[in-house]
Amino acid sequence: MELGEAATLLLAFCITCLLLSAWRRRRSQRLPPGPFPLPILGNALNLVGRSLPQALKELGEKYGPVYSLYMGSSPMVVVSGLPAVKEALLQQGDAFSGRGPFPVFQHLLKDYGVGLSSGERWKQLRRFSLMTLKSFGMGKRSIEERIQEEAQYLVEEFRKTRGVPFNPSFLFGRAVANIICSVIFGDRFVYEDPRFLSLLELVDENFHLLNTHWSQFLNAFPQILKYYPGAFPSFMRNLQQLKDFVLNEIKTHQQTLDPSCPRDFIDCFLIKMEQESASSQHVFALENLVSSTIGIFLAGIETVNATLQYGFLILQKYPEIIEKIHTELDLVIGRERLPCMEDRKRMPYTEAVIHEIQRFTDVNPMGLPRATIVDTNFRGYIIPKGTTVFFLLTTVLNDPTLFERPETFNPAHFLDERGCFRKSEAFVPFSIGKRNCLGEGLARMELFLFFVSILQSFTLKPTRDPKDIDLEVKISNGIGLVVPPYQFSLLPR
Ligand code: HEM
Ligand SMILES: *[C@@H]1O[C@H](CO)[C@@H](O)[C@H](O)[C@H]1NC(C)=O
Repeated sequence: MELGEAATLLLAFCITCLLLSAWRRRRSQRLPPGPFPLPILGNALNLVGRSLPQALKELGEKYGPVYSLYMGSSPMVVVSGLPAVKEALLQQGDAFSGRGPFPVFQHLLKDYGVGLSSGERWKQLRRFSLMTLKSFGMGKRSIEERIQEEAQYLVEEFRKTRGVPFNPSFLFGRAVANIICSVIFGDRFVYEDPRFLSLLELVDENFHLLNTHWSQFLNAFPQILKYYPGAFPSFMRNLQQLKDFVLNEIKTHQQTLDPSCPRDFIDCFLIKMEQESASSQHVFALENLVSSTIGIFLAGIETVNATLQYGFLILQKYPEIIEKIHTELDLVIGRERLPCMEDRKRMPYTEAVIHEIQRFTDVNPMGLPRATIVDTNFRGYIIPKGTTVFFLLTTVLNDPTLFERPETFNPAHFLDERGCFRKSEAFVPFSIGKRNCLGEGLARMELFLFFVSILQSFTLKPTRDPKDIDLEVKISNGIGLVVPPYQFSLLPR
């Protein structure tokens, strides 16, 4: 036998052994079924070159509501459909409450902060953050007032366009970012403030970098970052700059803190740090403050931004929907008074439209990665402790047995025959259970007050025939949603 042939045989032998061992491992571990993994690559080939949520959804149609998949050599589990999602997140919520890997963030932030931690640390940070974000958790100005104020600034900026077509994306982005800045740093920025703009540039650039194939590849093969930390230089540089900005804010807050009058999230955390300084757990420490703040900042901007951006694209296609909102708005609020959250109860149609926008926008089609915190028996399978689990929220939001025609935009998905608002269990854009979106209450306030304040003052005029507005334009690969820029005009009412 020649050397070449021997090498080929040896290689074939090794590959067979690796394949067999992967297969035996799945069997012996009683993991859920799934596509056959290749050595080293795992199931990467099942996923390359296409939208990740779409690929995962299609595998679910083949292998069922609970299946497993190999990212490299480690297994992960994918859960689809309302029954299985509910069973895991509501009935076995504790077991699935860990945060899965986010290598490109963890490289700098480790597993600190409310978004990245698991177990006891997460529980304490989560309880504290939720309390603080409750309407009156932060001193004199409620979150509702902060949003009302920002919505008026936005309306004033829009008024200056005088009906000329413009691209609203910059202003939406700045208004949404200002809410988060007010909540965590204590105040909004003037829209042209160069410090503010450079901060937003960091966020935006990193968001786009996150949406590259390279970033997904690094998330699938975290070892690369460990051995070659320079693999993602611009992302890391931006994240470091954001961290420096936050550290600097914390320093200024420490110097000006009045414990009897907290101004924002950072103040509340500093006060808690002081109270807990004798505790042996060190949960309320600087690393957790920095990482929680960065997490809230990043999680709170792109999501609401994309929903507003895409929401106003959808509305342009349906002038009759805008007309109905206007009728309801004039009846309940009128044209003079500031809209407030109390109004929501009496505006079922508007409420249904906003729900439908969130359902249709599908901002987070696969949620954020979770992990089991114990060996977990789920539907007869054993999912080992520390396994990454994805919940495909998109399969719930687009389930034809739960929404009449999920592929079409139709506010009636959230209305009963009498026109009253109809709740749906399948409305899960924020995920469900004890580790759902921390900012759900805040986000829903923002969406209501922004949509209603803008529509109170303006009517939309598309730059195209509504029939030609294409809603298929959004691009999502799981980490974020990209809405291509568009123009419209706003005519004062
Ligand atoms: C339309 C807007 C939003 C949507 C659709 C959304 C959706 C989500 C989803 C699906 C998760 C993952 C939950 C899970 O692990 O199962 C999440 C987590 C999170 N969201 Fe949001 N979100 C939005 C706005 C916000 C806002 C405004 C904030 C600001 C406070 C925020 C802060 C967070 C944080 C900190 C987490 C991590 C929570 C944890 O790990 O305990 N989100 N969000
Ligand atoms: C908001 O979204 C638009 C369009 O997707 C984008 O151009 C803009 O930079 C985003 N702004 C922020 C602050 O994320």
